[in-house]
Amino acid sequence: MKKVGFVGWRGMVGSVLMGRMLEEKDFDGIEPIFFTTSNVGGQGPSIGRDIDALKDANDVAELRQMDIIISCQGGDYTKAVFPALREGGWDGYWIDAASSLRMKDDAIITLDPVNLDVIKDGLSRGVKNFIGGNCTVSLMLMAVGGLFREGLVEWVSAQTYQAASGAGAQNMRELITQMGSVRDSVADELADSRSNILDIDRKVAEMMRSDAFPKEQFGHALAGSLLPWIDTQLENGQSREEWKGQAETNKILGREQSPIAIDGNCVRIGAMRCHSQALTIKLNKNVAISEVESILASANDWVQVVPNDRAETLAKLTPTAVTGKLHVPVGRLRKLNMGDQYLSAFTVGDQLLWGAAEPLRRMLRILLG
Ligand code: HSE
Repeated sequence: MKKVGFVGWRGMVGSVLMGRMLEEKDFDGIEPIFFTTSNVGGQGPSIGRDIDALKDANDVAELRQMDIIISCQGGDYTKAVFPALREGGWDGYWIDAASSLRMKDDAIITLDPVNLDVIKDGLSRGVKNFIGGNCTVSLMLMAVGGLFREGLVEWVSAQTYQAASGAGAQNMRELITQMGSVRDSVADELADSRSNILDIDRKVAEMMRSDAFPKEQFGHALAGSLLPWIDTQLENGQSREEWKGQAETNKILGREQSPIAIDGNCVRIGAMRCHSQALTIKLNKNVAISEVESILASANDWVQVVPNDRAETLAKLTPTAVTGKLHVPVGRLRKLNMGDQYLSAFTVGDQLLWGAAEPLRRMLRILLG
C-alpha cells in the first residue's frame, strides 16, 4: 500500500478533503500518515481505523518516507518544505492546494474532468507535482469546459462574485459578525414598523464606516457592501486573482503556446462558500443555444445546465442552492445584443469542493490507478 502523507488536514480545505475522502472511502486503499506543524505526537483525524500519532510536518526525513504527500497547509509551508524535500532526492508525488508551485514548468494544474489528457501526458513524462487550480478558474472550467473542448471559445470575460471562504475561515466568521453588527446597529428601529427607512439606512452606513465595525480580516465592510479587489495589485492594473484567469486556464488546458484571452473583474461579495461568475464568451462561430446546452451538459458528470427561466434560475443558480454540493450549475444562457457569437452564461460552484478539495482527492485516485 502506498504511504500517503497528509499535511494541513485540520484547516478548512483539509477538513473538506478529509470529509470527501471518507465519503468516497479513499482511505481504504492507502496507508495514511498524518503530519502536523503544531501538535507532534497528538492524535490525527478520525478515519474509522487506527492511525499513528501525528508526525512533524517540518521533518524532511519523515516526509521522505512518503510515496505521495497531499498538502493543504498553505503556500508558506510549500515554499519552506518542498524545495528541501526535492533537493534531498525525494521522488514521490506532491499534491498541493496552494498556489506556490502552480505555474512552474514541472507542475500540472490538476482538474481531471477537464484535463485528464494533460495529466496523463504529464505522468508519462515523469511529472511529479500536481497542484490544485485557483477556485474561480477550476469552477469556470467545470461549468463551461465543453466549449473549450470543442474549440469554440475565442475569448472569455469573467466577472466574478467570490465568497468569503476564498479568503479563509476567519473571513467567513467575520462576514457573519459584520452581518450581525449591521443588524444590531438598528435593532430598535427594525422593531418599530413606523421607523423611517432612511434613518435606518443612515445609521447602518455610519456603523459600516465606523472604527467599531468588525473588519480585522477584510479591512473593510463586506456585509452590506462588496470589495472589487481580490489578492495583490499587479503593475498592469489587474489584481492577481484576475491575472490567474488567463494564466491558469491555459495551463490547465495545456495551451500555453496559443493562449485564449480571459479577463474581467474579480469581486468579493457576502456569500459564504460559493463563487459565482457572469461570463461573456465570444464564440468563434454562431452556435445555437440548444447546441451550446448539449455541449456544456455532456462535458462532465457534475455540470448541470439550468434552463434560462426565471423560476428555475432563482431556485437552482444561487450560492444558497449550491453550497455544500458537488454539482456545478450553469445557466442564463443566451446570446447578447452584441451579436450571435456573444454568449452570456452564469455559473455557481462550491469553492471548497471543486474549487479546492475535490481535484486533490481525485488526483490521488489517479495516482493509485
Ligand atoms: N483566491 C481565491 C479567493 C481562493 O480569494 O476567493 C482560492 O482559489
